[in-house]
Amino acid sequence: MRAALGGIAILVGVVVAACSSVDTSTPVPDDGEPLFGGRSVAEYYGSNCSSCHGGERGGGIGPALRPDDLGEDDAFYFEVIAQGRGGTSMPAWRRAGLNDREITALVDFLRTEP
Ligand code: HEC
Repeated sequence: MRAALGGIAILVGVVVAACSSVDTSTPVPDDGEPLFGGRSVAEYYGSNCSSCHGGERGGGIGPALRPDDLGEDDAFYFEVIAQGRGGTSMPAWRRAGLNDREITALVDFLRTEP
């Protein structure tokens, strides 16, 4: 009986571990470099995004980017930030030098209230 319970505990552990490892929608290789050259994500937003999306993320040239404005999943916004939007003024930030960890940090930032 005890062995069986132990087996179940291990099984639950494996399932939980498997779920949490597939949970990250985008792979984030850790190259050990500080994000945004050591600046905070809020500072990076302030100097690179706020001109179009607003200081409080209420929108302007680009749409508002507060949690309630973002109905799609993280992978969607990751791609928009990475690739930009063709035919609009939304730049491709991967081309501008951001790596996956930085883009993920921006998506997480947009999910917090300003
Ligand atoms: C030069 C203006 C400009 C700058 C700078 C800019 N954006 Fe945008 N962004 C836009 C526009 C315009 C759109 C809407 C494009 C469209 O009509 O599909 C957009 C769309 C987006 C979207 C998708 C929103 C949605 O609801 O689909 C996200 C997310 C986003 N921008 C994030 C950022 C982030 C993060 C930065 C800074 C790293 C940034 N943008 C900088 C103009 C800009």
